[in-house]
Amino acid sequence: MPWQATVLTLFPEVFPGPLDASVLGRARAQDLWALDTVNIRDFADNDYGSVDAPPYGGGAGLVMRVDLLAAALDSIDIGERPIILLSPRGAPFDQERAAHYAGGPGVVLLCGRYEGVDERLARARPIIEVSIGDYVLAGGEIGAMVLIEACARLIPGVIGSAQSLSEESYTSSADPNGPRLLEYPQYTKPREFEGLSVPEVLLSGDHQAVARWRREQAEAVTKKRRPDLIGAGHKKTND
Ligand code: ADE
Repeated sequence: MPWQATVLTLFPEVFPGPLDASVLGRARAQDLWALDTVNIRDFADNDYGSVDAPPYGGGAGLVMRVDLLAAALDSIDIGERPIILLSPRGAPFDQERAAHYAGGPGVVLLCGRYEGVDERLARARPIIEVSIGDYVLAGGEIGAMVLIEACARLIPGVIGSAQSLSEESYTSSADPNGPRLLEYPQYTKPREFEGLSVPEVLLSGDHQAVARWRREQAEAVTKKRRPDLIGAGHKKTND
């Protein structure tokens, strides 16, 4: 069984969307990972297909109904997969969490819309709330795509070179307990562009000097842009 993402959404037509482009699309065609959607509206108990209702206690907007969402979840074969509700109130999604989910059998993703989801869903089913960042989207669909893309590219065989995975931003370097660093800058042809030249050391053929320079550059850019990553240590994602 390939790694499987099942997305519960009111907008199944937006999937796979960009997930079918390029290397991830080819990998899906080769059954290295799989994607299916469930239309939450199919579980509506009225002719209009509405799955939301006004909040108890009053206030703006509509809240997605716990009974219909539970029915949608209960209709699928979840197996050992985590059930993840995309929400700005969730735990932050990061590379550790992506690697954690990529190492399992897949994910079940629930995309919220409107003002939110009835809080009882997280009591009635084993739900993990995950946020892709500190901003509010109109719904969980794009968040689900972000999560799927970050995980699917870590599945063995999806991306050619294991080295390109281990050297990229947010992944630790040689020392697994060392700091997380942003990636060093890259250069390619042409050697001159509008008076801008490629750093001399990259043309030197001295592999050790290149490695040292890249490490220094990675540290410098991380210190400047993301000082929070330095000394952050490694945390473990258990859920
Ligand atoms: N839905 C709305 N905002 C979101 C966010 N920041 N992350 C995940 N899902 C969301």
